[in-house]
Amino acid sequence: MARGYTYFEAVEKHAGLLGILIAIMVSIGGLAEITPLFMEAHKVKPADGVKPYDPLRLAGKDIYVREGCYLCHSQMIRALRAETQRYGHYSIASESVYDRPFQWGSKRTGPDLARVGGKYSDEWQLLHLTTPRAVAPDSNMPGYPWLAQAQLDPDEITQKLRVLRLLGDPYTDADIAAAADAVKGRTEMQALIAYLQGLGIANEPQAAATATPAEGATP
Ligand code: HEC
Repeated sequence: MARGYTYFEAVEKHAGLLGILIAIMVSIGGLAEITPLFMEAHKVKPADGVKPYDPLRLAGKDIYVREGCYLCHSQMIRALRAETQRYGHYSIASESVYDRPFQWGSKRTGPDLARVGGKYSDEWQLLHLTTPRAVAPDSNMPGYPWLAQAQLDPDEITQKLRVLRLLGDPYTDADIAAAADAVKGRTEMQALIAYLQGLGIANEPQAAATATPAEGATP
């Protein structure tokens, strides 16, 4: 070995080895940042007043996801004055514990929907979801008229509740036994409207009104 030849030199002169070592270091850095977040996520508990979805709204939530509404709508009000003045109290993690997958995000072709529940009547929602331009002439939102023809499947919702219970949602045997009847004869449109009308209301944590903003946030 030549004089002054160090381990550093060995690494610097071999691009492949350098690349592998960089990848290892970056992975360690990444894990150090990401792993604690996974641990934290399990610590988030539902706030007072946040309950698991009832069967009809649960079916509606899955239709919302299936139809890709999240591609244009977020459900995350940021802790910024412009946002809270327009949409209401900023979103907090414990409101979304029963959302699988969660509907936060930043894609806003349309307005945020985190607290849209009760903003309009059921009739408005039906008309808007069928023919958006009937109520919002400049809207580029697509219509979803077929949802009013599609019936919900009672067996499927029972299975969904069972699976969610396995994942930790506190559904009781009675909830699961009553689920099929709750959606029988209902359409996908009715489920989606029920879901929308509960957003920010059915799941609003009682603590939200008094919650303190996260560190560094400007409510
Ligand atoms: C291509 C983008 C796009 C998609 C996809 C989309 N929307 Fe919209 N949505 C909009 C836009 C733009 C508006 C604002 C104009 C209007 O009211 O139609 C809007 C408005 C809304 C509103 C009224 C919000 C308010 O506060 O006034 C609701 C509720 C809504 N959408 C629900 C849905 C649902 C449910 C779906 C899925 C079935 C969906 N949207 C899919 C673009 C979209």
